[in-house]
Amino acid sequence: MKKKYQLKSHIKITRDTITDILNKLEETGELPFNYDLEDKDNNWIYDYWCEYTKRFGVPNCAFFTPDHTAKKMADIANHETSGEVLDACCGTGQILKHLDRGIGFDISQELLDIAEYQKLNVFKFSFTSLETDKKDKYYLKLNNLSEIDNLPKHEAPLKKYPVIVSNPPFGKVLGTGDLGVEFMNWAYDNLEDDGSLVVLLPSNFMNKTQKKYIEIQDKFSIVHEEIMEEEFANTKINASIYLMKKIK
Ligand SMILES: C[S@@+](CC[C@H](N)C(=O)[O-])C[C@H]1O[C@@H](n2cnc3c(N)ncnc32)[C@H](O)[C@@H]1O
Repeated sequence: MKKKYQLKSHIKITRDTITDILNKLEETGELPFNYDLEDKDNNWIYDYWCEYTKRFGVPNCAFFTPDHTAKKMADIANHETSGEVLDACCGTGQILKHLDRGIGFDISQELLDIAEYQKLNVFKFSFTSLETDKKDKYYLKLNNLSEIDNLPKHEAPLKKYPVIVSNPPFGKVLGTGDLGVEFMNWAYDNLEDDGSLVVLLPSNFMNKTQKKYIEIQDKFSIVHEEIMEEEFANTKINASIYLMKKIK
């Protein structure tokens, strides 16, 4: 199923960030463009982000999960536990908002502000443990460089989770590293024994044959795999939803 992510009516996109738009909404009770806020299928946060990033670029690998895929992933995660589910790299909360007992983290304060506006339970955290030289390269991708100073130390959250759900960032933005690989290893370490990972991955990720991918494949058993039916906005990547169990 494809989702048309263009805004429903013609609007002139300015350089207003999603935070600027949110502030205008809070000040006036209205969005500064024509949009039916009453329609439950409408999601101005997602639609505006897609339009904005189409023009000005996607900071920080923030390709949001389309609506139906996000709901489907949350349903799988809810079904896996009666405990708390961690949405790792939650962005504005596309998946998190459908979790029964969810908590999320992200590196971007801008996106976390939007999640908090939707009354979602979030905290700021980075799953990466980058050394200084790599860190500089990576954080240059952030839209707000002052975020570097505000990042917490890179320790993991205090507890492990029975279920982690995520549409994580991918790419070789570290220069030498691979963000997807780093994420999967981090998720393994932060799941309880026998814990479940519900994750959106590039469709070839679990079939790659280099050592670093095989090491990940050996850490999880795949319970369910399905191709993502919707398209991402602003990237042609084919992705699949996976439900995996952590192997002890
Ligand atoms: C592919 S987007 C997905 C966002 C959201 N989960 C969704 O489904 O729409 C990846 C997210 O990872 C966040 N991110 C990138 N690097 C991160 C890091 N090192 N630690 C935590 N979050 C990170 C980005 O800010 C972005 O929100």
